Amino acid sequence: MTAATLLIVDDEKSTRDGLRMALEDHFDCYVAADIKEAMGLLRSEPVDLLLTDLRLAGDSGMDLLDQALTLPHPPVAVMMTAYGSVDTAVEAMRRGAWNFVTKPLNLDEVELLLKRALRSRSLEKNNVRLEYEVQNLRQKSGSSKHGLESLIGKSPAMRKIGDLVSQVAPTRATVLIEGESGTGKELVAHAIHQLSGRPTDKLLVVNCAALSPQLLESELFGHEKGSFTGATQKRIGRFEQADGGTLFLDEIGEIDQATQVKLLRVLSERTIERVGSNQPVKVDVRVITATNKNLRDLVSKGEFREDLFFRLNVVRILMPTLKDRSEDIILLSQAFLREFSLENNKEIKPLSDHALAQLRSYRWPGNVRELRTTIEHGVVMSNGPVIETHHLPYFLGTTDASPIIAPPSASQIEGNEENSLASEGEFNLHVLELRTIQRALRHTHNNRTDAARLLGISRRTLQRKLKEFQNAPAQNDALKTE
Ligand SMILES: Nc1ncnc2c1ncn2[C@@H]1O[C@H](COP(=O)(O)OP(=O)(O)OP(=O)(O)O)[C@@H](O)[C@H]1O
Ligand SMILES: [Mg+2]
Repeated sequence: MTAATLLIVDDEKSTRDGLRMALEDHFDCYVAADIKEAMGLLRSEPVDLLLTDLRLAGDSGMDLLDQALTLPHPPVAVMMTAYGSVDTAVEAMRRGAWNFVTKPLNLDEVELLLKRALRSRSLEKNNVRLEYEVQNLRQKSGSSKHGLESLIGKSPAMRKIGDLVSQVAPTRATVLIEGESGTGKELVAHAIHQLSGRPTDKLLVVNCAALSPQLLESELFGHEKGSFTGATQKRIGRFEQADGGTLFLDEIGEIDQATQVKLLRVLSERTIERVGSNQPVKVDVRVITATNKNLRDLVSKGEFREDLFFRLNVVRILMPTLKDRSEDIILLSQAFLREFSLENNKEIKPLSDHALAQLRSYRWPGNVRELRTTIEHGVVMSNGPVIETHHLPYFLGTTDASPIIAPPSASQIEGNEENSLASEGEFNLHVLELRTIQRALRHTHNNRTDAARLLGISRRTLQRKLKEFQNAPAQNDALKTE
């Protein structure tokens, strides 16, 4: 490895020479006596480290620091200062110096500090590079929440969504995004916001299903101190917080009648009132809503106000199911393969033809989210050069997508025994257990914590059982022959 380069700047020749002699075993040293000479060197040579006195005859080390830091490849700067002028050195650090040493110098300390400075610089560079790479991958894989590039899909259905998003984003029209769970509604909301050019860069998200009616109302509109039991502080609501930006109301089909009325008012008058106040506050907020229900149906059932529906439904985006755009499965899978390989520090490996065929024929009730977790499963489970079908969740190989039921009871199993039509493995407790686990995973879209809860076992037990499953290919085959 080539040595790092160091520029020593001091107006006293003896200090310059002393430092150079002490440090030249460790660094390629240059010396300069003033700013002009120092800057000349910094511009012509690739200098990694700058060690400069703060007081240079007629010049200030601070000016040198300022100039050096504006270079395209600025060095890491360490300042030398006389004992008693530490304040100035601290000021230098505020301006971008890495650290300082006090005079009289302890040469060992100087050497150590310079080496640490260098290490921090290379870590910093690595971080920047890694961040850049991760960001790049995220963008390509679609897990970044920015702009249209995150919406993966070249199917006609997805192209239509992309066109709609670009069309409505720069307007302030209210957008209603409908679609099954996991189809990318939230991703679309982020894309619209990202392309909207709203004056402030804020997108706030409220999940309307997660809060009780009273809490939701105060979450959205805020409240005055003492307006209800528990309102010990005044609270600014999401509408006020999102002023100038976008508010994404997820699961809008869940809001209660009283909040519906208030919401209607914000949309028509562009003012809100905090709970416990009748002082209207002007807000400028772009509203995007989403639901996996059919809002029009809720209107006809009298559960959702029609006038509010019309306000929200200015532009409607209906997300296609994954099954309806199965030509995107490969593209999405590739992106998720990259994402999870990187996340798990594994090499990116291809899916076998059989595995791909399974992905194509499965009916994806959990849509893109389910595909994503399926690929994650495959990446984690496979140790070989290719991801095979037995690395994917077992249920992909079946057409059964009925909801999870309780594990079979002893009497059910006995009942089955009577009609001796059972296929091989049906009475094998392990097989039954594993089938149940797979169904629970399917039901929870591969969320292991939820699946464990559903099965009444701990997440660790579930992990252990999955591992056993992975290490027992024979059993795996028994399952696939169902
Ligand atoms: N077109 C897409 N390209 C890339 N990733 C996608 C796409 N659609 C969805 N995803 C990914 O799938 C997952 C689910 O997406 P999202 O949360 O937007 O779905 P949703 O429709 O809001 O689901 P829910 O109704 O359950 O809230 C996310 O990880 C998201 O990044
Ligand atoms: Mg969502």
